[in-house]
Amino acid sequence: MTMDIKIVKDQQAGGQAGYQLFADALDAGANVFGLATGSSPITIYQALTASDLDFSDKISINLDEYVGLSATNPQSYHYFMQEHLFNQKPFKHNYLPDGLATDAEAETSRYDRIIENNPIDLQLLGLGVNGHIGFNEPGTAFSELTHKVALTPSTIAANARFFADPNEVPKYAYSMGIASIMQAKHIVLVAYGENKAQAVAQMIEGPVTEAVPASALQNHANVTVILDEAAASQL
Ligand code: GLP
Repeated sequence: MTMDIKIVKDQQAGGQAGYQLFADALDAGANVFGLATGSSPITIYQALTASDLDFSDKISINLDEYVGLSATNPQSYHYFMQEHLFNQKPFKHNYLPDGLATDAEAETSRYDRIIENNPIDLQLLGLGVNGHIGFNEPGTAFSELTHKVALTPSTIAANARFFADPNEVPKYAYSMGIASIMQAKHIVLVAYGENKAQAVAQMIEGPVTEAVPASALQNHANVTVILDEAAASQL
């Protein structure tokens, strides 16, 4: 196992630590950045937008998107990425799954081809309270590439805070699979707060098991984990 664990004071400091990894990757010639949504990556995006780093000839590929939401829906991950990063930091191209695609088979294989043609240099990840990465819920086969996911009740509940009406929370998503994520050359996972502590401990110290999707990262050669003290408290 080769996980580099960085424990930072708070989410602000985590943003700086993450920013530095993006800057180092650019220096090393990285072209393709795998990006994530959720609250955890936001301070990294803030640090990136405040910087003079130039992504205008780079590619981004996001992990996931809700099925049924258009890019202009404020709850979509497309919208999130525009707001937090892409409007301020243009890339040559931003890829995300198309939430409106109705042919799941066609959409997921289209996305797999995009990743195949644009191998990811640095993949940013958040962590679900149940140990999910992207939208790979517990029990997802480690061999999965991009697929359509039925979200678990705990994930739907965790995401409900972003929706005015809990019934509007999507029940499905398109997500890169664990096998897609594991192909990235460098993986950077960020997690903050007490409610992530158990998932963090299982990811780093627990058995490698499909019951904890993030535990697959123990089999990756180059992973950096950025945590605050609360998220690291069960290590
Ligand atoms: C969602 C996303 C994940 C994210 C997780 C945690 O389920 N699909 O990619 O890691 O939420 O989000 P947060 O960082 O807001 O805790």
